[in-house]
Amino acid sequence: MSSFGKIGVVGAGMMGSEIALMFALAGYPTLLSDASRDAAERAVARLHDVLDRGLPRGFWTAEAVETARRQLSVADNLDAYADRDLVVEAVFEDETLKRGLFAKLDAILPADAGLASNTSSISITTLSAAVSEPRRARFVGTHFFSPASRMKLVEVIPTADSDATFVDAVMETMAAIGKTPILVKDVVGFAVNRLLHALVLESIRLVEEGVCSPADIDVACKLGLGHPIGPFELMDNTQNSLSLSVHEILYQAYGERFLPRPLLRQMVAAGYNGRKAGRGWHRYDSDGKRK
Ligand SMILES: NC(=O)c1ccc[n+]([C@@H]2O[C@H](COP(=O)([O-])OP(=O)(O)OC[C@H]3O[C@@H](n4cnc5c(N)ncnc54)[C@H](O)[C@@H]3O)[C@@H](O)[C@H]2O)c1
Repeated sequence: MSSFGKIGVVGAGMMGSEIALMFALAGYPTLLSDASRDAAERAVARLHDVLDRGLPRGFWTAEAVETARRQLSVADNLDAYADRDLVVEAVFEDETLKRGLFAKLDAILPADAGLASNTSSISITTLSAAVSEPRRARFVGTHFFSPASRMKLVEVIPTADSDATFVDAVMETMAAIGKTPILVKDVVGFAVNRLLHALVLESIRLVEEGVCSPADIDVACKLGLGHPIGPFELMDNTQNSLSLSVHEILYQAYGERFLPRPLLRQMVAAGYNGRKAGRGWHRYDSDGKRK
């Protein structure tokens, strides 16, 4: 096990709960909290289901599952993090909320503890400015991918202030929890979202130009490029409005090459937001099954 002993995760939503699960499965004592104890307890109950379902499918060994159940606990409030060595933040994507949370954690954590953010779009340097100068050396981005219990990649994003030894320890820890970390500079979209949305935007352009249908582009990406899911299926699963807001952020940072597409704007304005809405690039029944 790497140099961090006790782990904290704040935000028990889709990402935070599964990030906590990864640490617990690897044997780290892990505290998880959310805005209320109830919400965190509901998240832990969901994680126990994830473990129950994953075990027969061979995702984890029986021993790791047993360890995870023992190591995962709920914290009532941030004071419980006073003995943590590393705290990962995964609350709503809101800069003011995240900065406020980091300032509070900075005051509570031991001097040598580290902080990490799972933000997808906020600059890690900007977030690190919310903590005291010495803590900035122990502040990093850890960008996990959804679902965090299955996706192997973590983008590790240092800032100019991050201490190299601390960053190495975070990289080692990501490997210790079964992930494959890559080092990425603190730029808008980091590396993966820039790559992904270059593909997504070109896919929408192909549809706008009448070159291919969304269904055929999904097939092309899966059978021709070996992707596990096509770009239109992916947009429908994660909601089209999310892709549009990512394009707006990337466009602001990089200009023309990420110009949001009119067709995507039209779909979002029409409410064709994807699987949950029953209609996006594809159509879905009330159980979310593709028609
Ligand atoms: N969903 C994804 O695919 C994905 C992928 C990578 C990164 N991210 C990033 O991860 C973060 C979390 O995303 P998510 O999809 O898990 O969101 P989510 O809405 O599922 O979960 C966010 C959780 O934060 C909790 N929360 C809000 N304010 C809080 C506070 N003050 N204290 C404690 N908890 C609080 C909410 O109650 C909620 O449970 C965001 O920054 C997001 O951009 C998301």
